Amino acid sequence: MPRFDPHSWCDGDQPRQRHLDLDLTVDFDARTLAGRVRIHLADPSEGPLDLDGRDLVIESVKTQDGADIAWSVAETEAVRGDRLRLDLPTGTDVIEIVYQTAPGALALGWLEPQQTAGGEHPFLFSQCQPIHARTMVPCQDTPRHRVSYDAAINVPAPLRAVMSAGDAGHEESDGRSTWRFHMPQAIPTYLLALAVGNLAKEDLGPRSCVYAEPETLEKSAWEFAEVDGMITSAEKLFGPYEWDRFDLLVMPPAFPYGGMENPRLTFLTPTLIAGDRSQVNVVAHELAHSWTGNLVTNATMNDFWLNEGFTVYAERRILEEIYGAEYADLQGVVRRNALQVNLDQFGKGSEYTRLRTDLAGVDPDEVYSLVPYEKGAQFVLLLEDAVGRPRFDEFLLDYIKTFRFQSITTDEFLEFLELKLPGVYMQIQGPRWVEEPDMPDNELPINATKVEKLRELAAGWNDGARPDPSLRDEWSPTEWQLYLQDLPRQMGDADCQWLDETFDLTKQGNYEVLVEWLTIAAGSNYGPVMPRVREVLTDVGRMKYLKPLYLALMTHDEGKVFAREVFAAVSDSYHPLSKGSVAGMLAG
Ligand code: BES
Ligand code: ZN
Repeated sequence: MPRFDPHSWCDGDQPRQRHLDLDLTVDFDARTLAGRVRIHLADPSEGPLDLDGRDLVIESVKTQDGADIAWSVAETEAVRGDRLRLDLPTGTDVIEIVYQTAPGALALGWLEPQQTAGGEHPFLFSQCQPIHARTMVPCQDTPRHRVSYDAAINVPAPLRAVMSAGDAGHEESDGRSTWRFHMPQAIPTYLLALAVGNLAKEDLGPRSCVYAEPETLEKSAWEFAEVDGMITSAEKLFGPYEWDRFDLLVMPPAFPYGGMENPRLTFLTPTLIAGDRSQVNVVAHELAHSWTGNLVTNATMNDFWLNEGFTVYAERRILEEIYGAEYADLQGVVRRNALQVNLDQFGKGSEYTRLRTDLAGVDPDEVYSLVPYEKGAQFVLLLEDAVGRPRFDEFLLDYIKTFRFQSITTDEFLEFLELKLPGVYMQIQGPRWVEEPDMPDNELPINATKVEKLRELAAGWNDGARPDPSLRDEWSPTEWQLYLQDLPRQMGDADCQWLDETFDLTKQGNYEVLVEWLTIAAGSNYGPVMPRVREVLTDVGRMKYLKPLYLALMTHDEGKVFAREVFAAVSDSYHPLSKGSVAGMLAG
């Protein structure tokens, strides 16, 4: 198995990493991490070793005895990055690399004080999934070669460092402090994670606390207070929680995702803090990854649906247990609608609508969509439906137990499925789901009467059907989202004005509803909301919100001018990933 991962230079015939020992200094002025990593190998080794790197400045590469290891950048590809070719002398156990990261490292978001809630201190966060760990640490950056790790992170004294690892103490000297971490469990490298900022914490339960800037701590603790109940219901579904702690970190708004399942410390966007706990499904989702993703991990990004499809299914089960089936169903419909938008964007027959993908030469960030999530979850639901819930629950427990702390391919999953639930894959026309593009026609219907009513009302918009003003406070945020998703993408000023004045949409505190509305208004070039659109595009880095808003603006000439002007003014403060993905949309 020489190269088994299209997004890594890792060679399966070469020695493999087992443990990383990091010692890094955070320099906010230079925007670098500088120091060293010791890569512990599984066995004493010799000969060639290919590591992944991107834009790293490497000073030296030595063995545990201080002997120089010959190395070079043997090759560079746009998507994979650099192939760092080392030539190990006989008996090499540990490789010590002294290096620093580039200021533009894709894994790292460097925020100015004004981008934080407190406004006084800078902030740093990492986002390594899918293939950016290599911009932070030279390593075999493939999920198949798991590592445990230790780290010492040196930061300016008032700031605190947190990682996807256990706390191993800290000390202060000369206006700097060093935070130590120990991560005994083996994780894929995309789960390496670091954040540094002015952070305070508050306990939420026996195994959870929330970290946030002091200014947002209280609201965060209230919003996520139910987390312990979620852990308990997830354990019923998947077996014991194996990561010791499940802490949360509320980021500044520039964070490009809703949530990231970094083990022991989930990273969350502050846009979840709506003041009504209406977006805690994201916490349920990241928690579910503790089993599906972090325990059983996709072998490569071609198998990403194993992570996300199972996690969306599990998220829905947790929501069902806590809030009931109707709530979980409504959420399901909202997400199915959003999937349809992605399917239409890719077009019929697109490669990227298969569950098992072939992403050789393709940047996974560029083809990120809801397909592995929602098509994946629909496939899992079909499996459940075919064998019944009790038998499927048994299968899930068995699946997790069998593959815990392993990284598996789609084939390995299908083999296990056939072994444990023989015949079911063909019975549900599995190959059409896994191997073929588009949505097969045997999807399970979601029958929620509420949904039908909302759909009908929205469909009648052009014939004058309008929601009664009393529904403003009667509909839940999810119902509002559903209704807005079904409205025409463009409407006249009078209609926009009526909607906004009757239902106060621009003042919405729930970002899902707000952005759904602003997308319609921006696509309709409705002037009065443009200041709010500008604010959202300036403050919020979550790509889920940036993309539809910019896309809606790009549907008309005035919008294009507005979009390009806003982007030019604020994009320097975007995370490199958000900046790259929006730049691509504005060029077209
Ligand atoms: N692991 C993902 C985020 C991710 C995926 C980052 C691929 C980089 C590459 C995380 O679990 C996720 O799916 N987040 C969603 C939340 C959700 C409820 C679907 C998000 O950020 O919107
Ligand atoms: Zn996820």
